[in-house]
Amino acid sequence: MGGQTRGVEGEAEEQVLAGGLGNEGRVVRVGDTVRRPAGSWTPGVHALLHHLEAVGFDGAPRVIARDGDVEILSFVPGVVAIPPYPDWSTSEDLLLSVADLQRRYHDAVAEFRPQPGAIWLDGPAPIEYSGSLVCHNDLCLENVVVRDGHAVGFIDFDFARPVDRVWDIAIALRHWGPMWDAADLDVSRVDLDRVARCATFLGAHRLTDAERERTIDALITFGDRALASVRAQAEAGHTGHRRQWDAGYEGKNRRAQAWVIANRAALSSSARSLG
Ligand SMILES: Nc1ncnc2c1ncn2[C@@H]1O[C@H](COP(=O)(O)OP(=O)(O)O)[C@@H](O)[C@H]1O
Ligand SMILES: [Mg+2]
Repeated sequence: MGGQTRGVEGEAEEQVLAGGLGNEGRVVRVGDTVRRPAGSWTPGVHALLHHLEAVGFDGAPRVIARDGDVEILSFVPGVVAIPPYPDWSTSEDLLLSVADLQRRYHDAVAEFRPQPGAIWLDGPAPIEYSGSLVCHNDLCLENVVVRDGHAVGFIDFDFARPVDRVWDIAIALRHWGPMWDAADLDVSRVDLDRVARCATFLGAHRLTDAERERTIDALITFGDRALASVRAQAEAGHTGHRRQWDAGYEGKNRRAQAWVIANRAALSSSARSLG
């Protein structure tokens, strides 16, 4: 989680944290706190984080304060995998611990009811994945804090909103499988048995057969939506997404879709056989 340090005269030192895209360069660590952009969605996210604290879920930052357009959260100690993804980020133990933490998270939010009219940053999930569980919806490697080889915290709740939990699971699986074509994987991940890792991840979530099928379908739906969203952000001039698009995101996305479709039967039968 290294980054540049910029001294602010008379104040604690700020360290720009690496690993973000949406808020690139605007997430800074100051001592034990993290400061990041806040907006209309922040009250909803803070209510969620307060709920997690109240029920004793320890895998999320605590809200410290909001100061206008900045939110102040606790810094979650540990390491975060950022590209090129390190070898340690590929371990099966880590994969299992991500699923376990996500399952514990889903249990912890079961009773959370957002304020009526709560505002969320991202639009609603596609109708077939709508639901009432307020999930994270962006569990990429960069949003998971790791200690001693295990996932211990989720960060960056900007995409939190109510969905069906299989939507949240599919997004995490896409990143952690990873459910990408081999052509687009770092050298550390290219030889992973992605079909087996899908079975491991879905098995750890203890889904029913029907839920597993829906999760695999959700991978495709999510991929289409991600393509539209990255394209729109790039066209709107967002720096991080412009760079992502220019680096060939469209091809990478379409190859991932083709890979999931080509491996659809293997993904679902291996997931089922774990039972
Ligand atoms: N509360 C936190 N505790 C520890 N590290 C954090 C925390 N928040 C952010 N980070 C680090 O900063 C990086 C960027 O922050 P993030 O909020 O994910 O930005 P973005 O919204 O651009 O994705 C993360 O990938 C992580 O490395
Ligand atoms: Mg992030």
